This record gives sequence, structure tokens and C-alpha cells, in this order.
Amino acid sequence: MRKKIVAGNWKMNKTFDESRVLMNELKSKLNKDTASKVEVVICPPFLCIPAAKEILADTKIMYGAQNIHNRDDGAFTGEISASMLHAIGCEYVILGHSERRQYFNETNHLINFKVIKALEKGVKPILCVGETLEQREQGIEKKIVDEQITLCLKDVCAMDTDNLVIAYEPVWAIGTGKTASPEQAEEMHVEIRKSLENLYNATVAGRTRILYGGSMNDKNAKELLSMNNIDGGLIGGASLKADSFIAIIEAAK
Ligand code: PGA
Repeated sequence: MRKKIVAGNWKMNKTFDESRVLMNELKSKLNKDTASKVEVVICPPFLCIPAAKEILADTKIMYGAQNIHNRDDGAFTGEISASMLHAIGCEYVILGHSERRQYFNETNHLINFKVIKALEKGVKPILCVGETLEQREQGIEKKIVDEQITLCLKDVCAMDTDNLVIAYEPVWAIGTGKTASPEQAEEMHVEIRKSLENLYNATVAGRTRILYGGSMNDKNAKELLSMNNIDGGLIGGASLKADSFIAIIEAAK
């Protein structure tokens, strides 16, 4: 049984003080039974991670980051390493998000280095893949996603995939209010399992958790999360309000 994960991608939102308010609200409102059945993760901006370490210490809510540099340390002004995240208790890091691919020119090749580094340092990657609207209209969405999976997981051994989570996020659904239908998402999740089976084996394909992301909210979560191959959600906008994020977590239970 794959345990469901609901992860919040706060993106570049919330000041330090605002983040504390939201973390405290999540902590007080999230039902303990729910938190033991669903893995709950928040990925706030780097600056707010110390607040997560303090506020979420005695809860089951985990925290992570939204990016890393692919090197251990050194003269890389403005960057944060996987070891730094590990040292402050980050369980996860979102890698290969389409916004990083689009605005920061991240390639599959670079993302691959980051995935390897995160795994090496004990931080679990949430590897994002997904096609643009143009690619879907051309009918090449499966090819694109298979290519992303294959290139981003190059040299990652089967054993390490235990600590890997994949998020299918069609770019056309992110922040647009246009969600993939449960059937559309399910179809792509099945394809991703096929890619994993080709790269590794049926065991890896069957145990890897694949999240859906792209305008998931408290209204559409239940239907999406009821599909066989959707193992949770990567939530942007709806993770910024405690009530909507908790409603999605409840739907995953
Ligand atoms: P959204 O973002 O839920 O606001 O569409 C999801 C994401 O980008 O991870």
C-alpha cells in the first residue's frame, strides 16, 4: 500500500511572521488521526524553514524546501545545499518544478544532478514532471514526460528510488484553475509507472508514489485522489490557507 502524501508548495509566498501564523494554524487544526494516515509536508520559502523546525517539532507534519544547488558547498552566492536542508531537518525537496524549468532555465540534466545530490544527502526529492499545453496539443505529452523521468533519474539506482516521490504537474494546470480531469491525470500516472518499469522494474514502478499537482483544491481533491494511481497531491495556491489545505489532506484519508 502506498501511503498518500499531501505536500504544500508555498512558492514565493509568506513572510517569516506570516509563515508562523499558518504553521501554527495547521498544527492546531490538523486532526492527529488524519496526520498519522496521510504524510503531510509543507515546503515554505527557505527563510521560513527554521520556523517549521521549531513549530512543527512535536507534530507529524514534515517540512521541506523548493530547491537546492547541485553542489555540496563553496562559492555559489545565494545558493542552498542539500546538506544544509538535511541539517535543519528537511525531509523533502521539490525538484524540477516547471517554474524552475521555465524561469530559471533548469534542464533535465541539471535536475538529474540535483536529484542525485538530494538522495546522497538524505533529503527525499519530489521530482516534478509535466507537459506544456502546446506539447499536449501536439499529442506528445507522454513522450515528454517519459523523457523527463528518464533523464532526471539517470544514474539513480533502484534502491534509492525508495526515497523518491514523483509529481505529475501538467504545466497548463498550474495556477490556472484548470485541473486535469481525474481520467487525464490517471492516464499520465499509469504512463509514469510504465516509464519507471522500463527504467527499473515492476516493483519500483508499483511502490513509487506519484502525486498530482495543478490547481488541486478542496473541491476537486476527492475525485482526483480516488484514482488508483494518484498517491497524493502537490498543492500550490490551496496550501496557503490552513482550511483548504486541511480539507485536501482529509480528502486523501
Ligand atoms: P497550484 O500549484 O496548485 O497553485 O496550481 C501547484 C504547483 O505548482 O506545485
